[in-house]
Amino acid sequence: MLDQSIQELESGSLARIASAGSLEELEAVRVQVLGRKGALDQFFKQMGKLAPEERARAGKLLNGAKQALEAALESGKRQFAEASLRARLDREWVDLTLPAPGPRRGHLHPITHIQRELEEVFLSLGFAVLDGPEVETEYRNFDALNIPADHPARDAQDTFWLANGDLLRTHTSPVQVRGMERLGPPLRMIAPGRVFRNESVDASHEHTFYQIEGMMVDRGVSVAHLLYFMKIMLAEVFRREVSVRLRPGFFPFVEPGFELDIQCLLCNGSGCAVCKQSGWVEQLGCGLVHPNVLRMSGIDPEEWSGFAFGLGLTRLVMMRYGIDDVRHLQGGDLRFLEQF
Ligand code: PHE
Repeated sequence: MLDQSIQELESGSLARIASAGSLEELEAVRVQVLGRKGALDQFFKQMGKLAPEERARAGKLLNGAKQALEAALESGKRQFAEASLRARLDREWVDLTLPAPGPRRGHLHPITHIQRELEEVFLSLGFAVLDGPEVETEYRNFDALNIPADHPARDAQDTFWLANGDLLRTHTSPVQVRGMERLGPPLRMIAPGRVFRNESVDASHEHTFYQIEGMMVDRGVSVAHLLYFMKIMLAEVFRREVSVRLRPGFFPFVEPGFELDIQCLLCNGSGCAVCKQSGWVEQLGCGLVHPNVLRMSGIDPEEWSGFAFGLGLTRLVMMRYGIDDVRHLQGGDLRFLEQF
């Protein structure tokens, strides 16, 4: 009678263990059958009332059932643990053989882009591309360009001075001086580069910006030559024919000196916010090289003449792409730069 009950409890519990769907279900079986006051415990308690020989047999049966159930529970738990580990590994698996995203491919800054385009154009026209230092001597930035120490033109180009008297160049024009000194006439050169001024930064002013300078010295160079090269350059930058006009402009190193305007590309001259309703946009400074400038660099103005021009690359980029704030261009914000 007791034997049969024990066997039924054992086989019934083994079946429950085998069909358990979770760790919680296994635990419930353990508590009900093996736990304190569980089903097996009840049988152990009844043993005291049995005759000695029956007690021995029942004890054997009970111990056998207990071991069998403990072993079954143990292996059931292990299976659940392995399954959940497997599921977690599947979830967290990373394919280490996948190619990494790698560095993002960059591209040239729009200023560099325009600079290189202009270098190409001028190289094809027989101009050399010259470079000069950003830290210049006072002599080449000012004096050799016909701007002596007491000249008011110096105030318009305030800059950052070094303790030794050198300065951060305020324009690319000192490279004209270097070109004349180094190469002599006849000479065709351009000089792109970074320049500096002591400016408060706002939508149209930067203390650090980019210019491109150009100079040609030869026999009989005139304003007609200057205009020819300017029109070629501007057509290249804006990828279309542009109308230009000259106004008198003062730069101590040219005579005559001009401001060259282009007809506004946004309204084609009818007047808009960009050209302040005038139809024209100031684009660059230029003129015929002042005899004093030639002479100071060892060139005889009786024999040679030349033109020179200088313009902001930064400004060109703004015009070409319709950028209304110079600070975007040098702020290093990728969201802005990625558009080019
Ligand atoms: N260097 C002048 C400037 O920065 C521009 C210029 C260059 C004007 C050459 C005339 C000739 O404003």
